[in-house]
Amino acid sequence: MPTPPSVRTARVPALAKINLTLKVLHKRPDNYHELRTVFQTISLGDFIEVDYRPAKTTSLQVECTPEIPDNIILRAAAAILQEMRLKAEVRFRLRKRIPMGGGLGGGSTNAASVLLALPALAGKRVSIDRLTHIAAALGSDVPFFLCGGTALGLSRGEELYAFPEPRVSHGVLITPRIHVSTPQAFQSLGRHLTVTPDSRIMNSFQSFSWEVGDNLPAWSWRGFCQNDFEEVVFAQHPEIRRLKKKLISAGASVALMTGSGSAVFGFFSNRSDAVAAAKAFPNIESVVFRTVKRARYRSLWWECLGAHALEHTWPPLSRYAE
Ligand code: C5P
Repeated sequence: MPTPPSVRTARVPALAKINLTLKVLHKRPDNYHELRTVFQTISLGDFIEVDYRPAKTTSLQVECTPEIPDNIILRAAAAILQEMRLKAEVRFRLRKRIPMGGGLGGGSTNAASVLLALPALAGKRVSIDRLTHIAAALGSDVPFFLCGGTALGLSRGEELYAFPEPRVSHGVLITPRIHVSTPQAFQSLGRHLTVTPDSRIMNSFQSFSWEVGDNLPAWSWRGFCQNDFEEVVFAQHPEIRRLKKKLISAGASVALMTGSGSAVFGFFSNRSDAVAAAKAFPNIESVVFRTVKRARYRSLWWECLGAHALEHTWPPLSRYAE
């Protein structure tokens, strides 16, 4: 009798992101908005334990407390299995630390982690180009988490380019239990369909990207850190504006809401200043974090999946790779 295929397991990270800057341009004919943003991965993250076993029919299960309805992990798993033309029993256990609806990309990073982990566990290579395509269909922020670090996001946020990376910087993240609806936040901005070619070009953005050097502390970016959602979200939730001001009073050299909110981050010149500042927020959840560069992001993945990367199946490579 043939022995049943053995289970392959991994415990993979799913780091959160912040937006170091976020400009929303016009509304596009497909109802998405044209963005100019800089994404940055940070040390706050979820963990996903994955058990993978080849099977005759696919069955997917995710354990998470509290349960997340329509968990994007399941959609990501179904999509990547279909891409690999594989059937499998896959069980996920999600240890959730990233607050939901905070503008931290919690669902998107979970989806990207599944897209990276399952090919390695299945011993298959899926190119980064195909992964990016599948990721973008799952959500605008998902492709960023395939590479992490600091990246310029254009189009609806899924067109990504490596950006000069600030040096590892320490910050405090305040996560009020306010759930901001992303589609509603975009709606409130009241952007119109615009077709003038100039509206796609942001001179301020261009000049900053030429001037910024690698390895500067994140707080030196302060003139560049803006978020177009702050005005509309602060109008609806004035307490978020107060938190931003309080971070500045606690010594942050820059403080900004991330994504469409509600989380707010501030950067400090060192870790101990960040730890001290977090104490100014005794009645609200706060996290001291550091920025995570692309190389560190990749090595975290390698540490988790390297053991499964048989026959050079991981990391995924672009079509230009040797
Ligand atoms: O792509 P994703 O599912 O994350 O987007 C959620 C919603 O946010 C979209 O349905 C859309 O209403 C809005 N959105 C947008 N422009 C973007 C990204 C998202 O209008 N660039």
